[in-house]
Amino acid sequence: MSQIKIATLVGSLRKDSFNRRLARAVEKLAPAEFAFKHVQIDDLPLYSQDLDAAYPAIATRLKEEIESVDGLLFVTPEYNRSIPGVLKNAIDLASRPWGTNSFAGKPGAVIGTSIGSTGTALAQQHLRNVLAYLDVPMLAQPEVFIHFKDELIVDDGSIASDGTRKFLQEFVDKYTAWVRRFVD
Ligand SMILES: Cc1cc2nc3c(=O)[nH]c(=O)nc-3n(C[C@H](O)[C@H](O)[C@H](O)COP(=O)(O)O)c2cc1C
Repeated sequence: MSQIKIATLVGSLRKDSFNRRLARAVEKLAPAEFAFKHVQIDDLPLYSQDLDAAYPAIATRLKEEIESVDGLLFVTPEYNRSIPGVLKNAIDLASRPWGTNSFAGKPGAVIGTSIGSTGTALAQQHLRNVLAYLDVPMLAQPEVFIHFKDELIVDDGSIASDGTRKFLQEFVDKYTAWVRRFVD
């Protein structure tokens, strides 16, 4: 089977991000034909509609990266009950200039982890609203709200808890089946 390409967008720029660890954990559980690429979002300009007239090369690179993949995986913390501004900025840039939304039709999913007990549920709901407008068909279930504690996932993506590994495997199985439905 040919390779299925996924763009992973992590909503945290933090060096030791728990959400980046979660992304790695999930990626390790996926079948071999799935190739994940982390999209860089920390070098992007702040979106302004003035950019539309002459889109910066770096934002065009972002758009091309998104357009070249078969599916999207958003892994995000919750900041003040929503998604971090850096993630929203990347989404705004890739959705514009008007009429060139790079996300359109790409199957996606969102997962996240937080040290708070609600485990990013509100941020994920906000992100679902944004992505619905951008025509991204999102996997509905299972929802993945991971309450991060006690080095649950370490830097290389190894998972300390058997229960969490099993749950994330269930997510990966559903996610990969979801993306396959959209691949020709
Ligand atoms: C600006 C800011 C706002 C935050 N707001 C929330 C919040 O609304 N809900 C929550 O559960 N955790 C919140 N947190 C705590 C994050 O869950 C925690 O910092 C987490 O480790 C961030 O993810 P990361 O490790 O991937 O960077 C907030 C953290 C920051 C820095």
